[in-house]
Amino acid sequence: MNDEDERAIVDRYGRHVSPTFVRLLGVLGFGRVFVRGEGVYLFDSRGRRYLDALAGFGSANLGHDPPALSAAIVAQLAAKEPGILHVGPSASAARLGEALGRATRSNLEVSLLALSGAEAVDSAMKLARAATGRRGFVSCEGGYHGLDLGVLSVMGNKRIRSPFEPLLEHCARVPFGDAHALERALSSQEPAALIIEPVLGEGGAVLAPAGYLQRARELCDRHGTLLVFDEVQTGLGRTGTLFAFERDGVVPDVLAVGKALGGGLVPVSAAVTTRALYEKAFGSMDRFDVHGSTYAGYAIGSAVACAMLDQCAKPRLLENVCANGAALVEGLSARVGAHPMVRSVRGAGLMVAVELGSPREGLWQKLTAPLVDTVAEKVLGQWLCVKLLEAGVVAQPATQRWNVLKLTPPLTLEREHVETLVDCVGGILDDYPDPARVLRDAGLRVGEQVLRGGAFR
Ligand SMILES: Cc1ncc(COP(=O)(O)O)c(C=O)c1O
Repeated sequence: MNDEDERAIVDRYGRHVSPTFVRLLGVLGFGRVFVRGEGVYLFDSRGRRYLDALAGFGSANLGHDPPALSAAIVAQLAAKEPGILHVGPSASAARLGEALGRATRSNLEVSLLALSGAEAVDSAMKLARAATGRRGFVSCEGGYHGLDLGVLSVMGNKRIRSPFEPLLEHCARVPFGDAHALERALSSQEPAALIIEPVLGEGGAVLAPAGYLQRARELCDRHGTLLVFDEVQTGLGRTGTLFAFERDGVVPDVLAVGKALGGGLVPVSAAVTTRALYEKAFGSMDRFDVHGSTYAGYAIGSAVACAMLDQCAKPRLLENVCANGAALVEGLSARVGAHPMVRSVRGAGLMVAVELGSPREGLWQKLTAPLVDTVAEKVLGQWLCVKLLEAGVVAQPATQRWNVLKLTPPLTLEREHVETLVDCVGGILDDYPDPARVLRDAGLRVGEQVLRGGAFR
């Protein structure tokens, strides 16, 4: 693609889709137009190849051109089944509902089908209200459940919530992992549902402390509150099991899945629940049409989701996630774990985090901690991603914690890609042993970009 064509895309996007996003990309130097994806790689308009450690925020779990999913789309089109059908049961939606229920290996067997992750969680919230007759919700600080108006009420980030307030009443938030706070909130509020991610994704890839999810289950049972696991990001193999809840053996009342269910190719999501809860919420004739949407259960999305579940059922994929996820955590820990601006390296499967900030060990670290933490949060996370992009790696900090570099590559990545990631992150952090250098380089870059009028490239 020549420069003129690239500029036309940027201008059109900046004028008609998202002016702010295009401006933002220009400020630090994120400006690239990606035109092709193949396996674990993305290619920009100038033919440069990048290892994709973001995978559409954990959606393209099988990489960018997964043959099994493409074949499912082709076969579905060839079958000439109606794309959308609301005058009778759809064969594809029926197959998906059954496959989702089977995949949970539990009593969750009825799927409210939808398109986005936000819609899946919103469906869970509606189901919880309709089934319990209660109004409130409890969720976690740092939790992320999408940006639609309903789910914003359970969003764990004030900056993102506040432009849209007032939201739903009777919503309370508790610190993730604090069982006492959860107990207090559930006993005082008696909410319709507790909505929780088994591993906080956009809140910084934070694993639930041992026993926390079991305790949440017990407390929900005691207080008549439904337990909703939002596995929109952790589902479909991301953390090394098909669903993250399997690690703790805690089955929710509603499981929300999305993102990777459509393989990064088509939007499809679901809130999977028990027959009893479905009947309570929507089982009467006068409620048959109070939930749903035109494209819910559409044929191509359902076919892709079934193919995705088939792929995830192959033991090799999950073995790869566990082996390469562990290798990535080990490699990064060895390479950057002792860096003066790295607080921790952690992960669950192939959701791996490098948390930036002061490790706070020793007197000097304690004294400089406020400066290091501020730089890590405001600048270093983004700067690290700019430098990674320049080194040929696409990655982003967690949406709600910019000091956490969150790596969510396709689950199909191989050991050589793990080594590339470790080398790139390590090499860049070697160049930045202290906050002063980060401020100097990032400051110079922003200054340059301002002088260039915020040019995209
Ligand atoms: C845990 C979780 N839930 C819900 C969502 C919202 O999904 P969507 O953007 O498809 O609405 C996200 C998106 O990042 C997520 O990470």
